[in-house]
Amino acid sequence: MGPVPELDDTAGACARRLTDADAVLLASHIDADGLTSAAIASTALERAGVPHEVVFKKQLDETEIASIAAREYDTVLFTDFGSGQLDDITAHEEAGDFEPVVADHHQPADAETQYHLNPLLEGIDGASELSGAGASYVLARALAAETGDPDGNRDLAALAVVGAVGDMQAVEGELVGANSAIVGEGSAVGVLDEGTDLALYGKQTRPLPRLLEYASEVRIPGVTNDEQGAIGFLEELPIELRTDGEWRRWVDLSDAEKQTVASSLLQRALERGVPPGKAERLVGTTYTLTDEQPGTTLRDASEFSTLLNATARYERADVGLAVCLGHRGAAFDRARKLLENHRRNLSEGLEQVKREGVERADHIQYFDAGGEIRETIVGIVAGMALGVEGVDGSRPIIAFAEKNDEETKVSARGTGRLVGQGLDLSAVMTEASRAVGGDGGGHDIAAGATIPTGEEAEFVETADALVAEQLG
Ligand code: C5P
Ligand code: C5P
Ligand code: ZN
Repeated sequence: MGPVPELDDTAGACARRLTDADAVLLASHIDADGLTSAAIASTALERAGVPHEVVFKKQLDETEIASIAAREYDTVLFTDFGSGQLDDITAHEEAGDFEPVVADHHQPADAETQYHLNPLLEGIDGASELSGAGASYVLARALAAETGDPDGNRDLAALAVVGAVGDMQAVEGELVGANSAIVGEGSAVGVLDEGTDLALYGKQTRPLPRLLEYASEVRIPGVTNDEQGAIGFLEELPIELRTDGEWRRWVDLSDAEKQTVASSLLQRALERGVPPGKAERLVGTTYTLTDEQPGTTLRDASEFSTLLNATARYERADVGLAVCLGHRGAAFDRARKLLENHRRNLSEGLEQVKREGVERADHIQYFDAGGEIRETIVGIVAGMALGVEGVDGSRPIIAFAEKNDEETKVSARGTGRLVGQGLDLSAVMTEASRAVGGDGGGHDIAAGATIPTGEEAEFVETADALVAEQLG
């Protein structure tokens, strides 16, 4: 039995279909979840002896599906997308172009196909309980079982967790539901370690003052964005801050030293007026990839996923895939350079939003980044912007960015609380984009669309009315 019993039957059927194929074209999405999905599926196909080729797409639409059909593979495996475009995909299936197998977690379009593995079809939440990489992992486990090894492929759980963390599936910092069953399998075979630790980005790689200075998860006056403040805070603590003149990193500290820093930081946050509920978020669940070298980006699921976004969202999915498949050396060096560039772009993007502010409709807020923020990362920036000064943390945010001369990319982000009140951004993006001749989809909490340039105002009006209905 696989890690998600509800999906066992479908996963088994999909696995049999794939092992029956002479060759498979594997198509996946260009983000951390899509890359890890592809790496998991590719490794599992390889182990099952199924010849295959991997391609990545920024977004699946009619044109891209047609280009996939033109490759003339009898069997196409879609991971981390496909469900939302099932109408277009099944049209090709009916035309005899290829037979699809889909392992995805996006809101399905109104169409059905035989080999469709999606948590949402079984009442499992695709935004918080299983990612695309998780669906691929379920498939990978079924592929192992199909080839006579019911316990096989559990080492791939580490990548599945990187995908889930990359898709921000952790609820209050922790993976839940089917995701946590995958964590369990990875821990059982020793590739993962779930622990409680400081919940800041950069524990593996950043010098201590940087770790604290750059932490945007919880803002602490006098520490966050304050180099001297961060150094001053550390210097008051009874710990050695340097080894051979070099700043130590979080990973270099002993457990007792970590405890000291974490509790002092929490205390400092409370003293400086950070509400207790927020300050608590300084500590959370972390996922460590135990086979990776300590002190590297790949050791921590969160840092690993950011590294992957830094490749695939900049047209270098090949680099990210190579790293996922275990290549180090040149691919990893390249990925680290791309990461520096990505982090700079995110920080500049966020600064721009803070500087220019957002516009408000009745129920949503929005900004148009024009050509200033890359369309492949504007959604990440929108998510980071929710809750910064000048941006309302309690209403959905919509961002526009130039895609090309004719099209605008739209990204939308909400909060768990709004979803609890009825918000479904996937429905909003789908309907509001269709109303202006575009196309969209995603999850209740995070979704996107492509619309014809010039339709932004009309789109905002429709989206605002839809959100009003959902929250009304
Ligand atoms: O296409 P895909 O499903 O992989 O992308 C999911 C997107 O939704 C990611 O960009 C992720 O950051 C975003 N998300 C979010 N907040 C959540 C869950 C997902 O911003 N709670
Ligand atoms: O691009 P962005 O990060 O904003 O995407 C948010 C979510 O919406 C992702 O899960 C993505 O796959 C989905 N999306 C979609 N159709 C689009 C654009 C985004 O399903 N045209
Ligand atoms: Zn995904």
